[in-house]
Order: sequence, then structure tokens, then C-alpha cells
Amino acid sequence: MGSLADVLDGKIEVPYEIIPHFPRSTVQGHAGKLVFGYLSGVPVVCMKGRFHYYEGYPLWKCAMPVRVMKLLGVTHLVATNAAGGLNPKFEVGDIMLVKDHINLMGFAGNNPLQGPNDERFGPRFPPMNEAYDKTLIREAKRIAKELGLENIVHEGCYTCLGGPNFETVAELKMLSMLGADSVGMSTVHEVITGRHCDLTVMAFSLITNKCITAYDSNDNPNHEEVMDVGKMRQDVLKLFVQSIVKYIKQT
Ligand code: 6GU
Repeated sequence: MGSLADVLDGKIEVPYEIIPHFPRSTVQGHAGKLVFGYLSGVPVVCMKGRFHYYEGYPLWKCAMPVRVMKLLGVTHLVATNAAGGLNPKFEVGDIMLVKDHINLMGFAGNNPLQGPNDERFGPRFPPMNEAYDKTLIREAKRIAKELGLENIVHEGCYTCLGGPNFETVAELKMLSMLGADSVGMSTVHEVITGRHCDLTVMAFSLITNKCITAYDSNDNPNHEEVMDVGKMRQDVLKLFVQSIVKYIKQT
């Protein structure tokens, strides 16, 4: 999904290693650089590779790039992720616009905003009930229709686990009962950090596999499948994000 960065105009690539205090990407298939450029004439910065809790970084460090973007003057954050589909209506390759999330790691007392609060970014106790911008969701749905994607674009609730293992059957059943439609290992801490510093946020999941909630299934989720579905949908996702960015430009 990082391939969007490759099609920017006037690209400038900044490897994570040369940014002071920046974490490093350690996952195969997640390259490590910030890519600056223009997408449909709009100045953007893409993260080619991002940071996950399972890499061993604390959540605040996983989400630090969001604060760097804020300091660079970014106003809108479009977060994407590969996720397992819990909602039985979702098929592999579908897109789920995130309308809400369940911060499961937060339930266990782990949150990117823990520790002394820097008021220059935002308040100690930020609200999170309007985390995902309603107008952007509405416009994303309109764009999906225009692009003929209405049958593959859904709306739902995302939840993030620490990983790196995929979930057990019992865990997935529980998440489904809690109201989660997709499950992954990213995004929630970045969105919380982005909303804390008042970025306008939208997020979507690419459903890379259907979650297995039956004991008699012989299917296994795996990283290769996740990468393959990402590649398969690469062009559609590029077009989708490009159209969303074009919309944001006019606002
Ligand atoms: Cl099934 N679970 C999690 N946690 N992350 C995923 C996934 C599943 N599929 C893709 N990413």
C-alpha cells in the first residue's frame, strides 16, 4: 500500500535513519522513508513503511511520525491499513472506511498519550467520539460510487491488537461480539495522536483476509496473503486516495 508514494510528482525521499529520534522500520515489506511530493497538485507526505507495536516500540514512538507531520504543517491524515475482515459481509480485497475504532490496547492501560502532556500538541483529555471526520467519510463514499467501487467499499469499526500473532478463534469471536468489523495491528495509536493535535482524520482498511471464527476451518492467515492482496488492489487504492486528496484540496 506504500506504492502510492512512488507516484508522487516532484518526489523527495527522506530515509527514516536520517531523521533525529525517528524509529526504524523493521518489518519485511514495510520500507522506511518519508516521501514528500504532490498528489494531484496537492502537497503531501507519505510514510513508506510505518511502525508497529510488535516491533518493540512503545505506542508513543510508533505514533511519533504523526507529530512530525503536524509540525511540518500537515492538516489531514489519511491512515490506511491491511486488516482481517470480521464482518461476514466483507470479502477479500474490499475496503472498509473506518467510522470508529475500539482501542483494545487502551483498555489494558496502554496509550500513545500516556505520560506528561505537551499542551502545545493538545489537551490532556482529548475527546475521541468524533475521531473520524464525518464529511470525509461521506465524500469517500461518493467518490467510491463515482469510481464504480460502491460494491467493495463499506463502513465499519476497526480494532487494533498488539500482534505480531494473528488472533485465535475465540479472540476473533470476542472482537466480533464487541462490534469490531475489521482487525489489524496499526492505525489506532496514530489516529489518537493525530486527533490529539487536531488533525482531520480519515482511515480505511483493506480487507486482506476473512477472519476465521470456526474451529473446523483449515485456512490460516499469513503475511504473504496480506501483501498479495495489497498488491492486487494497489491501483484501485491509489486512485481512491488520489480522489480523496483532490476533494480535500478544495475544502
Ligand atoms: Cl486476521 N488480524 C490482525 N490483527 N491483523 C491483520 C489480520 C488479522 N489480517 C491482516 N492484518
